[in-house]
Amino acid sequence: MNSPSRLQTRSAWASLRRSAIHGRGLYASKAIPSGTRIIEYEGERITKAESDLREEQRRSHTRQGGDGCVYIFEINKRHDLDGSMDWNTARLINHSCEANCESSKIRGRIWIVARRDIAKGEELTFDYGFGMENWREHPCRCGTRKCAGFIVTTMQRWRVRRKLRAEACRTPATT
Ligand SMILES: C[S@@+](CC[C@H](N)C(=O)[O-])C[C@H]1O[C@@H](n2cnc3c(N)ncnc32)[C@H](O)[C@@H]1O
Ligand SMILES: [Zn+2]
Repeated sequence: MNSPSRLQTRSAWASLRRSAIHGRGLYASKAIPSGTRIIEYEGERITKAESDLREEQRRSHTRQGGDGCVYIFEINKRHDLDGSMDWNTARLINHSCEANCESSKIRGRIWIVARRDIAKGEELTFDYGFGMENWREHPCRCGTRKCAGFIVTTMQRWRVRRKLRAEACRTPATT
């Protein structure tokens, strides 16, 4: 639940700024060594049934023109974590197809961990790990060389590229 009295999650490693990728994002406030636990991704622990319900509500909200942000993380087979609360600062980390962080489950909690050394001032990103379902709903603006144009997990990006190539072949060239 959103609770105005709850303190915002803080990290000595990261601060909030307007992002070149989308909306606001989290940036390294100092050099971060590879493997550092940068910030905990906090939220409400919910059952899968509740998670499905909230995902359906999100979809319907998106269809009506609302923002389509996804904040649900899988904890285990029975539970997910809904990190949509305002106080969960880590919810503002954007996706990149060439991410410098990853989400890591550590004893039932979710942490954002540096995948490599990160320079002060770099935007922190991780791979959202989205599957192929509704991939067109999530265009990607990470701007990296590895970007597939849509937010899809690394393993599936080749499928997106293949579909886009096939579509480009079917579209008659205009001169
Ligand atoms: C969890 S929010 C991240 C914080 C967001 N930047 C904000 O200001 O609210 C996730 C949403 O941010 C946007 N987003 C994150 N990464 C993106 C990317 N690489 N390209 C385009 N949009 C992105 C998408 O709308 C996504 O649903
Ligand atoms: Zn991308």
